[in-house]
Amino acid sequence: MRLATTRWNRAERSLPPTKSLPKGDKQATIVAVAAQKGGVGKTTTTVSLASAWARYHGKRVLVVDLDPQNHVTLALREQIGIGGGPLSELLTDPANTLEVEEIRTGTEVPELYVTPPDPDLLNAEDGMAHRIGKELVLRKALEITRTHYDIILLDCPPNMGTLTVNGLVAADTVLVPAQASMLAVSGIDGLFRTLDEVGGQLNPSLDLLGVVLTRVDGRTRKSNEAVRDLVKSSWGDVVLPVHIGANDTLAQAQLAGRDIFGFAPSSRGAQQYRELAADLLDRFPK
Ligand SMILES: Nc1ncnc2c1ncn2[C@@H]1O[C@H](COP(=O)(O)OP(=O)(O)O)[C@@H](O)[C@H]1O
Ligand SMILES: [Mg+2]
Repeated sequence: MRLATTRWNRAERSLPPTKSLPKGDKQATIVAVAAQKGGVGKTTTTVSLASAWARYHGKRVLVVDLDPQNHVTLALREQIGIGGGPLSELLTDPANTLEVEEIRTGTEVPELYVTPPDPDLLNAEDGMAHRIGKELVLRKALEITRTHYDIILLDCPPNMGTLTVNGLVAADTVLVPAQASMLAVSGIDGLFRTLDEVGGQLNPSLDLLGVVLTRVDGRTRKSNEAVRDLVKSSWGDVVLPVHIGANDTLAQAQLAGRDIFGFAPSSRGAQQYRELAADLLDRFPK
């Protein structure tokens, strides 16, 4: 009967690991903030929208920092609570049963939660390389977590690697920040190709929330319009109506380690991100 015993053990081993996190009663909209380039305002947009939704719309919000540069926690370092655990462990350990909810930490803003800084995220892509179904790992680690939030934002790294693909597979919709310049616009191409691929193979219900133009220089109205037209002619009407102007207060807030509404709530940057947050809520996939 040795053979039967072996078979039984095998069947037992292939059972999905059991999770201990209880289910909540929400069903978060998961938004990936992605762009192929760095420095286009992904993190600023992620952190500002998350704070706006938590502060002004009564939403329970979680930010997952998928970028090994850990800029989310850097941007919120004066407001972030202690505790939490490394996201990389969830992503790389095949025996993991933890959900993101179990490793996140709080912030000074009630209802705003973030994943804590994780230096090992730098090696996570290598650690995931040989995992079966490596693109689905984050989606699985958010399965129950999403029942505890209204909105989950994923700040993606500035490339189309495994971490970004995990973000796109876990997301319901994608927000693409782009600087209003011809060069930046050419960078959107690669991202859209990846979106097509991910949408076709791994996440057919993935939506595009839109392209938000960031660091728009009001003095160059003509070229801003030219950029908008170029984007429109290549990809259709995907540029969102609310733009984020170049506003040094946003950079200062990041340097001070506070969200823009905690740092300078009446600044133009705060005003525009509040507008963007309100506009986007109406565009969430139903
Ligand atoms: N609208 C803006 N006006 C001025 N500076 C900005 C604006 N948005 C972002 N920045 C600054 O530009 C830099 C890059 O922005 P960041 O959001 O970190 O980009 P990414 O996450 O795409 O790399 C940061 O120093 C940030 O403070
Ligand atoms: Mg960033």
